[in-house]
Amino acid sequence: MQAESAIPTASTLPRHLAVIMDGNGRWARRRGRPRMVGHRAGARAVNICIDGCLRQGIQVLTLFAFSSENWGRPADEVGALMRLFLSALEREVEELHRRGVRVRFIGERSRFQPAIRERMESAERLTGNNRRLQLNIAASYGGRQDIASAARRLAADALAGRIAPEAIDEEAIGRHVALAALPAPDLFIRTGGEQRISNFLLWQLAYTELWFTDTLWPDFDEATLADALTDYGRRQRRYGLTGEQVDATTREESA
Ligand code: FPP
Repeated sequence: MQAESAIPTASTLPRHLAVIMDGNGRWARRRGRPRMVGHRAGARAVNICIDGCLRQGIQVLTLFAFSSENWGRPADEVGALMRLFLSALEREVEELHRRGVRVRFIGERSRFQPAIRERMESAERLTGNNRRLQLNIAASYGGRQDIASAARRLAADALAGRIAPEAIDEEAIGRHVALAALPAPDLFIRTGGEQRISNFLLWQLAYTELWFTDTLWPDFDEATLADALTDYGRRQRRYGLTGEQVDATTREESA
């Protein structure tokens, strides 16, 4: 029914959308083409996703571009992906800046070649004051590594006497993981048919609504985004409370 697929209103929109862009390799294989053709088509889908977020008014988009485990892929695929990242950074950053997108990278930046690191830094500098959409690109990122690095920094602070061990609570860890200054993702989308988190934002996704689709990432379009947003708009986020408690709070807030 048409009404079922209505675009959600602003109040039911996620503020922060996190995406695992899976399925590039299979998309290429189905066409009898090398995997890199799928990654290049995937880069085009990234633009479609950003356009959709800008149009819908989503404030934060976090994309999983390259995991800490992806370094283990065949060297020619890793090398070609690096070239793709570099050319995408060279090609897209001015346009993203013009459209009010702030770009940030999370993950182990030191593992990238200097040319890519420089591009990442200049993209962050150029777009740093933009406010329309914050685009976080997770590159050489792993959720466990993120939590381990937060623990390491807190341990160093404790050793230096800057924090008491008993003051290390969820809030303290939350201040040290990636994206600490942002609201946690409200909605997580994974394309490509697998239903797992794959070491993405483990801490930050604790209460995120998860949405999976068989659509392969290069086929991701605004209709897929609209489906995910519509489904999200129908969900009740309870954070461990009962449905009745949440209903009562919602009634109080709208009174
Ligand atoms: C997962 O598909 C995709 C990746 C590991 C790379 C993601 C890269 C892009 C979407 C392209 C460019 C991105 C930016 C930010 C410019 P897969 O290769 O695991 O696919 P498969 O599961 O079908 O093999």
